[in-house]
Amino acid sequence: MTGFDAGAGRLRTAAGHLAAAASATAAAAVQTARVLSHWWDRVTRWLKSVMPKGLYARSLLIIIVPMVVLQSVVAFLFMDRQWNLVTRYLSSAVTQDIATLIDVYRTYPQGADRTQLRRIAQDRLGLVVDFLPETQLPPPGPKPFFSQLDQTLSEEIRKQIGLPFWIDTVGRSSIVEIRIKLADTVMRVFARRADVYDSNSWMFLIWMVVTSVVLLTVAILFLRNQIRPIVRLADAAEAFGKGREALNFRPRGATEVRRAAAAFLEMKARIERSIEQRTTMLAGVSHDLRTVLTRFKLELALLGDGPEVDAIKRDIDEMAGMLEAYLAFARGDTGEQSAPTDIAALLEELKLDTERHGHRASVAFHGQPEVTVRPAAFKRCLANLVSNAARFANTVAITGHRDHRWLTVTVDDDGPGIPQQMREDVFKPFLRLDDARNQDEGGTGLGLAIARDIARSHGGDITLGDSPLGGLRATVRVPV
Ligand SMILES: Nc1ncnc2c1ncn2[C@@H]1O[C@H](COP(=O)(O)OP(=O)(O)OP(=O)(O)O)[C@@H](O)[C@H]1O
Ligand SMILES: [Mg+2]
Repeated sequence: MTGFDAGAGRLRTAAGHLAAAASATAAAAVQTARVLSHWWDRVTRWLKSVMPKGLYARSLLIIIVPMVVLQSVVAFLFMDRQWNLVTRYLSSAVTQDIATLIDVYRTYPQGADRTQLRRIAQDRLGLVVDFLPETQLPPPGPKPFFSQLDQTLSEEIRKQIGLPFWIDTVGRSSIVEIRIKLADTVMRVFARRADVYDSNSWMFLIWMVVTSVVLLTVAILFLRNQIRPIVRLADAAEAFGKGREALNFRPRGATEVRRAAAAFLEMKARIERSIEQRTTMLAGVSHDLRTVLTRFKLELALLGDGPEVDAIKRDIDEMAGMLEAYLAFARGDTGEQSAPTDIAALLEELKLDTERHGHRASVAFHGQPEVTVRPAAFKRCLANLVSNAARFANTVAITGHRDHRWLTVTVDDDGPGIPQQMREDVFKPFLRLDDARNQDEGGTGLGLAIARDIARSHGGDITLGDSPLGGLRATVRVPV
């Protein structure tokens, strides 16, 4: 009974140990997974940051990397196997020759200077043999850096001849010197390097490099032609966004790129058609209303004069003015071509106009002033902002700034400004704030709507904010 209890207790303890070990292992595995995923994240982030961003460079990489890897593997295998093997065969053959010469030297009596042996070696085996008077080998020379030949030849001599030897594969580059210690002399053999060593394999590597350079050049040329239509499509889309015409753009290149280009052209045509439709309709409506107004005027003229008639006449005049302005708005500036325009000069003109109307004005411009815009439309946009500022304030400050992406023009004034919550609403057509409405020379409320329309058709926008001068700051930003 007690024995059974003790056994059960031991079992329980063992199970407890096992469970503890398992939970420790699980914790370690979780920890390892976390560390691994952290490192994987870092590696992918690093890869992303060093990888080229352009399609051209990426495609080139996709071609070059496999090619380099493949060639490296092939070259490595070749060097390792083929080269070693051929060198071994060659070394072995030369060593055999030397062994034969040694046998002949030992077996047959030789003349004083072993002329016959030397002649046979020279004529039949292509080896220059000498017998040196000393009996000692020189100390071993320095091992060459690339010691494959040295190794193979040494091994072969050790295996086939088994006598003390000394070799010099570095010294004179086209000749290899081998000395073998015999009983009474040292036999010196000069062999041609090409006979012991596979020196032609370099040609293989050179051929490999040359063909890959040729392949790469062809790939680069072809790729450039494939990428160009994509770049053109991107340029055309960008130009359309900025309200410019992409000259000479038509679908080219691979089928997929062609399809994208054709779809883009179709979309562009549809957008242009719908804008035109809207404009024509609005112009038609305005025109019809104008006809009715003219009829009103004629009928009023027939009614004769009187205070009520005068009031109605004034209202009709105002309505006619609004219609006129609306017609101009709806007509827009369609048809005007983009052209490089000197923005600094344009701002200067606006400043002079403002001063002519008796306001204080200043102008400043930073950066390269030439920007491609539709000149009349862009001037109208800025003029609307400046005329607003001039209407509500005494001092107007115009600043232009151009960097590599944007042209920014700000118009500051020291007038009453526009309350924060109204700054989006004033862009709506015909919306005027109350102060403006009380003024006699109040406009139609289309100025800001037109200005924003023009800025957006250039791919930019207008925003309103607080001016350091105390009034309103209107900022126009268009891409260059
Ligand atoms: N610089 C400004 N300071 C204060 N209020 C302004 C300023 N600019 C515009 N506003 C307000 O925004 C309203 C809309 O301006 P918008 O230019 O669209 O119309 P408008 O100037 O009244 O008429 P239009 O420009 O067609 O002659 C103005 O009526 C005015 O109340
Ligand atoms: Mg205005």
